[in-house]
Amino acid sequence: MLFPTLSSLLVSVSGVQGQSNVSEIPFYGRSPPVYPSPEGNGTTSPAWTAAYFKARSIVSQMTLEEKSNVTYGHTGPCVGQTGAVPRLGVPELCFADAPDGIRGQEFVSAFPAGIHLGATFDRQLMYAYGKALGDEYRGQGIHVALGPFIGPIGRIARGGRNWEGLGSDPFLAGIGGGEITKGIQDAGVISTPKHWLFNEQEFRRRESSLGEAMSSNVDDRTTHELYAWPFMNALRAGAGSVMCSYQRANDSYGCQNSKLMNGILKTELGFEGFIVSDWGAQHSGVASANAGLDVVMPNAAFWGANLTTAVGNGSVTLERLEDMATRLLAAHYFIGQDEDFPENGVYPYNVEHPINDVRHDHATLIRQIGAAGHVLVKNVNNTLPLKKPRFLNIFGYDADVKASPWNNPTRYGGGYEENFGWNTLNGTMITAGGSGGSTPPYVISPFKAIQDRIIADRGILRWDFWGLTPTVYANADACLVFINAYASESFDRTSLTDDFSDQLVNNVASNCSNTIVVVHSAGPRVVDAWIDNPNITACIFAGLPGQESGHSLVDVLYGDMNPSGRLPYTVGKKESDYGHFLNSTIDFSYFPQDDYTEGLYIDYRHFDAHNITPRFEFGYGLSYTSFQLSNISVSSTGADTRPFPPSEVPIVQGGHPWLWEVLYTVHTTVTNTGEIAGAEVVQLYVEIPNAPARQLRGFERVYVEPGETVVVKFDLTRRDLSIWDVVAQQWELQPGSYHLFVGASSRDVKLTGLVEV
Ligand SMILES: *[C@@H]1O[C@H](CO)[C@@H](O)[C@H](O)[C@H]1NC(C)=O
Ligand SMILES: *[C@@H]1O[C@H](CO)[C@@H](O)[C@H](O)[C@H]1NC(C)=O
Ligand SMILES: *[C@@H]1O[C@H](CO)[C@@H](O)[C@H](O)[C@H]1NC(C)=O
Ligand SMILES: *[C@@H]1O[C@H](CO)[C@@H](O)[C@H](O)[C@H]1NC(C)=O
Ligand SMILES: *[C@@H]1O[C@H](CO)[C@@H](O)[C@H](O)[C@H]1NC(C)=O
Ligand SMILES: *[C@@H]1O[C@H](CO)[C@@H](O)[C@H](O)[C@H]1NC(C)=O
Ligand SMILES: *[C@@H]1O[C@H](CO)[C@@H](O)[C@H](O)[C@H]1NC(C)=O
Ligand SMILES: *[C@@H]1O[C@H](CO)[C@@H](O)[C@H](O)[C@H]1NC(C)=O
Ligand SMILES: *[C@@H]1O[C@H](CO)[C@@H](O)[C@H](O)[C@H]1NC(C)=O
Ligand SMILES: *[C@@H]1O[C@H](CO)[C@@H](O)[C@H](O)[C@H]1NC(C)=O
Ligand SMILES: *[C@@H]1O[C@H](CO)[C@@H](O)[C@H](O)[C@H]1NC(C)=O
Ligand SMILES: *[C@@H]1O[C@H](CO)[C@@H](O)[C@H](O)[C@H]1NC(C)=O
Repeated sequence: MLFPTLSSLLVSVSGVQGQSNVSEIPFYGRSPPVYPSPEGNGTTSPAWTAAYFKARSIVSQMTLEEKSNVTYGHTGPCVGQTGAVPRLGVPELCFADAPDGIRGQEFVSAFPAGIHLGATFDRQLMYAYGKALGDEYRGQGIHVALGPFIGPIGRIARGGRNWEGLGSDPFLAGIGGGEITKGIQDAGVISTPKHWLFNEQEFRRRESSLGEAMSSNVDDRTTHELYAWPFMNALRAGAGSVMCSYQRANDSYGCQNSKLMNGILKTELGFEGFIVSDWGAQHSGVASANAGLDVVMPNAAFWGANLTTAVGNGSVTLERLEDMATRLLAAHYFIGQDEDFPENGVYPYNVEHPINDVRHDHATLIRQIGAAGHVLVKNVNNTLPLKKPRFLNIFGYDADVKASPWNNPTRYGGGYEENFGWNTLNGTMITAGGSGGSTPPYVISPFKAIQDRIIADRGILRWDFWGLTPTVYANADACLVFINAYASESFDRTSLTDDFSDQLVNNVASNCSNTIVVVHSAGPRVVDAWIDNPNITACIFAGLPGQESGHSLVDVLYGDMNPSGRLPYTVGKKESDYGHFLNSTIDFSYFPQDDYTEGLYIDYRHFDAHNITPRFEFGYGLSYTSFQLSNISVSSTGADTRPFPPSEVPIVQGGHPWLWEVLYTVHTTVTNTGEIAGAEVVQLYVEIPNAPARQLRGFERVYVEPGETVVVKFDLTRRDLSIWDVVAQQWELQPGSYHLFVGASSRDVKLTGLVEV
């Protein structure tokens, strides 16, 4: 009944079983059909070959029912677990949230959220994060970690889940996604990069009484260069699993979209592992099986007995069912989980159980990443670091953990948004809401950490966590104001500011000429209501730092750690600067549509293209010292630079192997010209012909002693310099000039260079 607008959008869907009936289009979509589903065969590496050999020999001994049993979720202590095959010794595989810590369990760590890790711009920390997380998952006997989170990447500024990912740039998210995947899997746990694909908004992300889920309509080039990009890194790093998303793409649901699963993921990117549905994201039995879905969670949904019936009547081939089971077990063996895997240690909080402390000394790492992800955005006249102050005023709801009915630790892990993050007036924010929230074993609040410092310095504090016009003590050395900006899975933010917090900051500043603002934020937070106030002498974007929040902050405030964090998104001067990326709450029709008409131009690419001056640009952040960049040089590695990689070379997981070859290296030097040791995040942006003016293609966080000079090296791979050619259906290295920009942010360019291909 509601089809007319859709049929006008139709593209060719002919020639494919089940997709030639126009009245079924809203269901099957107008996504290019790609069938049959490629069978995983383990040919992309010796480790996968060995894993497939084992998996096939087990699957070949299974009955039809046993093959089906491992493809769907069974009720158990985990958020999802596959069926066992006791007869053949195949265990249930346990799946668990979250990307920043094991959700809902005791004696586990609360790591900084993804957006905070992204702000470190530090590859080593990204790997260490994945490895530590993986060690905790494995310690709990969990086989499959539902992360890294590399999509959404933050197209919608108010997006409810942007904070779970590493930031609004595919290169940054890609490096993070690859390093985290490597870390998790080195610990013996299967990683699950998610969500495949286009999960860019929460508004109508699922079907509801309003109608079907939002359809993200994205052109082929943008799909490759922006949204699929970070997944390529995670696949290249060996990811054993990928989660398909709730949304529709070109009207076809993510978990039954053959173009996305059979086409891009399993053919073009050579994915050897299994695709698991997001929880409840399956919308059909036969269609999802044939489109490439391998495992459905958290229950059988449209499969179970119906899948075996479908195999019996020929709608789904036996080979497809066997491929599902084989892919799942191959990932299991690929990671080596068939030897010495710990007992499952996941329990509900209301059942008495043995203590299983899997935290090791991760608190140290959490504190370190926490500090490295703090972004200093304003610091007048060296207000910071603090110089052993003996009297501080502390204001704002975000300064301390609150005892409130909404903040009851016994409920962590029990549900969704009300249980995880802290929002306005609910206390300090260390994570945000929904399934991506962590479950802290304790929380070091800013108040606690500052108070400990003040005690050590024989000082005093005055505080007010509730008032909007708090009393300022004129004798204090500084006023610290703590505010936050919350977000959660399942809804998008309604604003990038809030009046209460802005008034609080201005009220304090009107009576305090040394006001320092700390913003815990789940994404961009517009600060123009007060950032230029001369009494505001410093401001820190403190992200979502995890359990050691206060310690990390104090390390930066007091200068034990010289800040080097950089914004992994753009902070505009006003909300309208984000244009149509601001408000996702737009389409209330039965089959809602979101056309990604901007193509590659999101976040800083959008601000650059429209010449909009942001308040703080992507990649921005201050230090307590100063750095000088000099002596850029570019050299060719001599690798083949023909426009297209040869088609006879077999694809490996992650795409054509040539895409990862280094074609050019860029060297530059960075000198610490100040008095204090610290790290600089050197960034490399490239202007590729026929692409946005500047795109991040390299970053290195380097520690430099005062007066010291360090050489920084960037590798530019074929993919870094290529565009996706929609006609050739290949990455293309265009002949021409590529301008390079090396600097301290996406706008603060210090050096330029040139590559001639
Ligand atoms: C198209 O599908 C509808 C509903 O499934 C069915 O009633 C109709 O007969 C089909 N038409 C053709 C030509 O197959
Ligand atoms: C969506 O449609 C566009 C335009 O036809 C096409 O370029 C793109 O590849 C399609 N993507 C999917 C996932 O169907
Ligand atoms: C293995 O699978 C890939 C992806 O479907 C395919 O390209 C390749 O030809 C297959 N190799 C063999 C030896 O079957
Ligand atoms: C299917 O999986 C369930 C849950 O692990 C298990 O109890 C049952 O024995 C399995 N069924 C078969 C036929 O192996
Ligand atoms: C099979 O499908 C029917 C109709 O779609 C559904 O009601 C039933 O629950 C399914 N059965 C199983 C075991 O999945
Ligand atoms: C085959 O079985 C599946 C699952 O029960 C069902 O959805 C489908 O309509 C059946 N197809 C035929 C041709 O009987
Ligand atoms: C910075 O300090 C100098 C010297 O104390 C003072 O003259 C100047 O006004 C200060 N600048 C600002 C912006 O406060
Ligand atoms: C605290 O958080 C809960 C759940 O998000 C919310 O319902 C409540 O309004 C918040 N309290 C205040 C005072 O903002
Ligand atoms: C978003 O836009 C819609 C449609 O224009 C409007 O109804 C809604 O109020 C807007 N929401 C916000 C939070 O601005
Ligand atoms: C500033 O301080 C004065 C005197 O202590 C007080 O009356 C006034 O309310 C304060 N202003 C604000 C905005 O807090
Ligand atoms: C800055 O603080 C001083 C001292 O409390 C106050 O007199 C002055 O009005 C404030 N300035 C602004 C712009 O708020
Ligand atoms: C500049 O870089 C080149 C090439 O890396 C190197 O040979 C040279 O020594 C460098 N000069 C300085 C002053 O660092």
